[in-house]
Amino acid sequence: MTEKEKNLSVIVLAAGMGKRMKSDRPKVLHEICFKPVLYYILSAVYKLNPKNVYVVVGFKGDEVIAYLDKNFTDAVPVYQKMQLGTADAVASAVVYRKDFAHNCLVLTGDTPLITEEILIEIVNHKLNSGCHMVAASSIVKNPYGYGRIIRDKNGSFLRIAEEADANESEKDICEINSSIYCFETGLLFKYLKEIKPNNSQNEFYLTDIVERFIARKNRVEVFTLKDSSIAEGFNDMIQLACIEKQMQSRINSKHMLSGVRLRDPLTIFIDPEAHILNNTTIEPHCFIQGSTDIGRDCIIGPFTQIENSTIGNGTVINKSVVTDSIIGKGNNIGPNSYIRPGTITHENVKIGACCEIKKSVIGKNSKVPHLSYIGDAEIGEDVNVGAATVTCNYDGFFKNKTVIQDGVFIGSDTMLVAPVAVGKGAITAAGSVITQNVPPHSLAIERNRQENIENGAVKFRNNKEKIKKDKK
Ligand code: UD1
Ligand code: CA
Repeated sequence: MTEKEKNLSVIVLAAGMGKRMKSDRPKVLHEICFKPVLYYILSAVYKLNPKNVYVVVGFKGDEVIAYLDKNFTDAVPVYQKMQLGTADAVASAVVYRKDFAHNCLVLTGDTPLITEEILIEIVNHKLNSGCHMVAASSIVKNPYGYGRIIRDKNGSFLRIAEEADANESEKDICEINSSIYCFETGLLFKYLKEIKPNNSQNEFYLTDIVERFIARKNRVEVFTLKDSSIAEGFNDMIQLACIEKQMQSRINSKHMLSGVRLRDPLTIFIDPEAHILNNTTIEPHCFIQGSTDIGRDCIIGPFTQIENSTIGNGTVINKSVVTDSIIGKGNNIGPNSYIRPGTITHENVKIGACCEIKKSVIGKNSKVPHLSYIGDAEIGEDVNVGAATVTCNYDGFFKNKTVIQDGVFIGSDTMLVAPVAVGKGAITAAGSVITQNVPPHSLAIERNRQENIENGAVKFRNNKEKIKKDKK
């Protein structure tokens, strides 16, 4: 990053409501690969190390501001009262005029595929050519809906014609305005004031500024993007899905190139903030969300969802959900288990089929293999929890804790009524309801003694047969 690039302010236009989305959400908060589109734009923008970033908000602006407050605290929201057009949107940042750097990058909030590299190229083009304004363009097959780049016979840039205002021959032009510009800030704010809504939509078009620059003999250049898909926006749910597919492919390719095996990348969605080490395999139909870290030599999936969690090396998770948890090395989880927030498992833990674990710590080499609920528990090392065990952690008012110390064997179908503790090396008998602490190395049995009645089964059947006959 050169000193010149640092001398940059950025305006992101994000006030429009995106009518064709037919959605209650502000357009820039629609998510692709688990993050709002605005996340991708601001992430790219901040890599340029700008002096300041302004985000123009309007439709459901409170929601956009709330997102910024939580995720991009340095970004300054600028409220555009009415959505009168892109020039008016930029002009609403004028209140911060004195804080602006010498150059100003303007882009829209609905083009999440934009990259840091492209933005640097556009800014560098402005700096190296010494011109006063650069507009990025793309060559597309179907230019419908976009502003067209109008050039003279010699190819010099003249102006931008919006779809609604273009004549028939202009509509045939396939070079479109990508809505990414770099301006000399002083001139931008000067000429913005001169823009009038003299067009078929009665809007203040930012694109009209090109003619203002040219009229004053300021140099304006077009920077044509090599890859037109990079500036692609979306206007409806179909286009949003297309953009998400491209982002998914970009993220997944990065992981595959670093040695992660994705068995069927089209069915695997990975958050841009997730990290996965090489030699790990992600099986089909997985969601890897939030800030998740997956170690090496793991097998994840199929049909697994992991969110904001850390997964140790060599762990296998099959057809399960893991949220806000830390899973140790060499664990084996699933199928059909649900690991809920606040769970920590140490090395070599097994959580088998259909188990739910919530806010619990499970020690090294311990096993919860079948159909159990473990909540608010602290389980030591080398513990075996029998099938269908339940920690009864909730009394309808408070959550209570269960402690199971090292080497304990919990018999199948034990109900551990918390708060309760089972001491080191103890055993609970199958089917017991444990309401009192179990001292170390004790055997806790809580159930009636079994009685076997000799020939009782024969007597029972005979009796029932007789009743059946009498009824006929
Ligand atoms: C705009 C360009 C068009 C270009 C296209 C590329 C203008 C007049 N036209 O058209 O040349 O080809 O982008 O995608 O600029 N916005 C506001 N406030 C407003 C109006 C818009 O913040 O009052 C924001 C929107 O939220 C959006 C962006 O500006 O992020 C672009 O607005 P939009 O209405 O989508 O412009 P287009 O018609 O697509
Ligand atoms: Ca648009």
